[in-house]
Amino acid sequence: MAALTLRLLPSAVLIAIALTVAALATAASPPNCDRKCGDVDIPYPFGIGAGCFRDGFDLVCNRSLQPPRPFIGDTSIELMDVSVALGRARAYTHVDWVCYNATDMLGYEIVPFNLSTRPAFAISAAENKFTAVGCATVALVGNDDYVTGCVSACTSEAGVSNDTCDGFGCCQTAIREGMTALTTGFSVDYNNSRVWEFNPCSYAFIVEHEWYNFSLADLGGNRLNQTYKSGVPVVLDWNVGNMTICEEARRNPNSPPASYACADKNSECFNSSTGGGYICNCTSGYQGNPYEDGGCQDIDECSRQSEYRCYGSCINTIGNYTCSCPQGTMGDPTTKDGCHPTTSSTLPQYLKVLIATMSSILFLTISGFSTNLWLKNRNLMKTKQKFFKQNGGVLLQQQMNSYRGVTFKLFTQEELKKATDNFSSSRIIGRGGQGIVYEGMLEDNRLVAIKKSKLADERQTREFAKEMLILSQINHKNVIKLLGCCLEVEVPMLVYELVSKGNLFEYLHSKTHRFHIPLDARLRIAVESAEALAYLHSSTSTPIIHGDVKSSNILLDDEYTAKVSDFGASKLAPKDATQLATFVQGTCGYLDPEYMLTCQLTEKSDVFSFGVVILELLTRRKAFEFNVSDEEMLLTANFISAMKENKVDEMVDPEIKKEEDMVVIKEVCKLVVLCLNSNGDERPTMKEVAEDLGKLSKNKQILDMQSKHQNPVDDIIVTSDYVHEPPQRMQNVTSSEHSTSRYRSLEVQAVLSIESGR
Ligand SMILES: *[C@@H]1O[C@H](CO)[C@@H](O)[C@H](O)[C@H]1NC(C)=O
Ligand SMILES: *[C@@H]1O[C@H](CO)[C@@H](O)[C@H](O)[C@H]1NC(C)=O
Ligand SMILES: *[C@@H]1O[C@H](CO)[C@@H](O)[C@H](O)[C@H]1NC(C)=O
Ligand SMILES: *[C@@H]1O[C@H](CO)[C@@H](O)[C@H](O)[C@H]1NC(C)=O
Ligand SMILES: *[C@@H]1O[C@H](CO)[C@@H](O)[C@H](O)[C@H]1NC(C)=O
Ligand SMILES: *[C@@H]1O[C@H](CO)[C@@H](O)[C@H](O)[C@H]1NC(C)=O
Ligand SMILES: *[C@@H]1O[C@H](CO)[C@@H](O)[C@H](O)[C@H]1NC(C)=O
Ligand SMILES: *[C@@H]1O[C@H](CO)[C@@H](O)[C@H](O)[C@H]1NC(C)=O
Ligand SMILES: *[C@@H]1O[C@H](CO)[C@@H](O)[C@H](O)[C@H]1NC(C)=O
Ligand SMILES: *[C@@H]1O[C@H](CO)[C@@H](O)[C@H](O)[C@H]1NC(C)=O
Ligand SMILES: *[C@@H]1O[C@H](CO)[C@@H](O)[C@H](O)[C@H]1NC(C)=O
Ligand SMILES: *[C@@H]1O[C@H](CO)[C@@H](O)[C@H](O)[C@H]1NC(C)=O
Repeated sequence: MAALTLRLLPSAVLIAIALTVAALATAASPPNCDRKCGDVDIPYPFGIGAGCFRDGFDLVCNRSLQPPRPFIGDTSIELMDVSVALGRARAYTHVDWVCYNATDMLGYEIVPFNLSTRPAFAISAAENKFTAVGCATVALVGNDDYVTGCVSACTSEAGVSNDTCDGFGCCQTAIREGMTALTTGFSVDYNNSRVWEFNPCSYAFIVEHEWYNFSLADLGGNRLNQTYKSGVPVVLDWNVGNMTICEEARRNPNSPPASYACADKNSECFNSSTGGGYICNCTSGYQGNPYEDGGCQDIDECSRQSEYRCYGSCINTIGNYTCSCPQGTMGDPTTKDGCHPTTSSTLPQYLKVLIATMSSILFLTISGFSTNLWLKNRNLMKTKQKFFKQNGGVLLQQQMNSYRGVTFKLFTQEELKKATDNFSSSRIIGRGGQGIVYEGMLEDNRLVAIKKSKLADERQTREFAKEMLILSQINHKNVIKLLGCCLEVEVPMLVYELVSKGNLFEYLHSKTHRFHIPLDARLRIAVESAEALAYLHSSTSTPIIHGDVKSSNILLDDEYTAKVSDFGASKLAPKDATQLATFVQGTCGYLDPEYMLTCQLTEKSDVFSFGVVILELLTRRKAFEFNVSDEEMLLTANFISAMKENKVDEMVDPEIKKEEDMVVIKEVCKLVVLCLNSNGDERPTMKEVAEDLGKLSKNKQILDMQSKHQNPVDDIIVTSDYVHEPPQRMQNVTSSEHSTSRYRSLEVQAVLSIESGR
């Protein structure tokens, strides 16, 4: 039926229909247009061949070239690439030149850049610079009604610097907006004859800003015109519309050649910022070619996570997307790890909640204190409690109590007040860099140490939180046990097991009580501390670097068992490598020299500091001493020079310097040398240190056993407590250690590095 009707239509109508179709076809490109010329993509409105382009954007693809290259219409200007989103294209411009010898001009080549027949294009003023190269060069650029230029001079190659166009060898200047044709020129009066020996030629070109990198080498010979044989890139602005603005163009939807160019329904019109006319762009949420119907395609934002910053559950919609935290979580889906489970029982979440809670309280604390008003603090407290609950405080408490059998308690402020007699000064047992430590007695008569942060800046409070985080993960007999914390107060407080005998520093260096400390006790303390540190480095799920190993951070309980403490400077090893590097931590005398250079805290930094602790145990001298001569100030420096001069005996504490122990002591000294190696990579690991110390300690026990049997009377020092198992066989101190040979080879390296002054 339809065919019959059609046939019956008057031919005039058919012709009219055909004409309309043809007219529409020029508005958008037919499907069989060539959209590539060689390596260059040719998007509409550009095109090659009839019907494939919008008026003014016709290109010629010269296929006799290898590879084929596109030129703008009938001009000799070659196109490099096109951007429809920015309304820009890049073309090649010629590198103009002139050359001289001492007496004559040898030749020149100047090719005008002329697009005046193409009003849709203009040389971008923002994206290009006129550039001239030479040592006796006055270069000009312009056209009939505009001229500018720059001067470059130099009397020798000296003083010319690469990469800067500052008028010595190279100069640059901006050009005016909206130019379509420009030609260069060189001054003949000021010419290269005077500098021809090192700079025979001058060059001038318009080039994409920051594309050209001036080099001294460009002054010699006539090289630059060879280097850029096919030209240098120049950025062109283009627009559709032929001087009409958006509003005007929209009134003319489809009568070519001036029809409204923004063909896709998801496109927008922008007045061109350079000259009259307009350009089109896909609306937000779409990408592609706005000049073609159906050219703007929805962006799948969810597949471009980092660009659109959606780390939660992402749903792409047409023209947009939604981003939310996955079910069962809440928070900020636009940041990494921004979503927290609302309920969960795994450790990392509890830790996250912990940190979130801590930092919120910290924030509230700081904001509270800055205004110093009692009333405000009262209100703040209420807010905090509310906040604490909101952030899962109650939940957190349950999880802490059940976590890995470690009994971790959230104490109330009241409980801790009661335990410390309202923080009475008589209960103070220590003052550290980070806070005051009180002795306290809990309701169940347990003695505890309560560390209260000094009214702290943000950093200190962060360290406090970190210490809590780290310690709550650790369960080792030689690491101080964290029993709980109190989050309710302005400044968080930590509650530890109490150790009765203070710290190793006091034990070694106290002037009021000088204890006799036998070698085997010292070795045992060293072994225990080393094991604790080795455990931190290797045994826990995330390696922990202590960061501030020193004798005052090794606590001693009733039985003088070592307990490593103070994790305020610690670091969970692999994460945020740079985060802590912003401030130097550690203590004078213990600080890893390599850390000072690299600002990278590693496990080996702890090994260095621990080497100093061993040294303290051997010499009973402080790591760093004021009021002594410069040479004696630093224990490590002292030791290393004594080691070199083979006078280490003189440094050993006379109390332990016994003939029969010197073999063990010497081995320990060798171990210290390894620990103090200035190159962290060459230091042994903490595990190796712990093992070696363990073996040496055992050898010492065996030697003691031996001498005990020989001289049963001469037995005041060795306490049999330390010998847990009877010796199976006699060990040869100097040879039975498989590690001895390793020492030897490493020792050589250590001495070498000492001697090379590293
Ligand atoms: C631009 O407009 C002028 C007059 O308005 C017209 O003569 C010319 O052909 C148009 N050029 C293009 C490329 O559409
Ligand atoms: C293509 O380039 C060659 C070599 O430059 C030239 O001889 C030829 O005329 C060009 N063809 C067209 C169609 O411009
Ligand atoms: C067009 O949209 C793209 C992507 O949104 C954007 O980068 C570009 O700047 C826009 N162009 C103009 C002229 O606004
Ligand atoms: C400079 O070049 C011209 C032309 O090539 C030549 O005649 C003249 O001898 C040259 N002068 C010197 C000093 O080399
Ligand atoms: C080059 O400059 C000098 C002096 O500025 C002038 O005497 C000479 O004629 C110039 N050379 C040429 C080839 O124009
Ligand atoms: C550009 O070409 C046009 C004609 O094609 C001419 O009138 C004009 O002077 C040229 N401009 C320059 C700067 O060479
Ligand atoms: C000039 O240096 C910049 C930055 O180093 C580089 O991106 C550019 O490609 C260099 N230009 C050329 C022509 O090598
Ligand atoms: C400048 O760069 C060239 C190589 O492009 C190099 O040979 C020369 O040593 C550099 N000069 C300076 C001062 O850096
Ligand atoms: C570069 O300049 C020299 C003259 O010094 C000329 O012989 C040569 O053809 C030029 N090369 C190009 C690619 O223009
Ligand atoms: C274009 O420019 C005209 C006047 O110059 C202005 O009224 C109009 O709002 C502009 N349109 C757009 C889309 O920016
Ligand atoms: C996308 O959605 C967000 C809200 O979900 C809205 O704020 C934004 O304006 C939307 N963007 C577009 C282009 O519709
Ligand atoms: C220990 O071993 C070394 C080397 O093997 C040997 O020279 C020395 O006599 C041994 N000493 C004892 C007490 O066995």
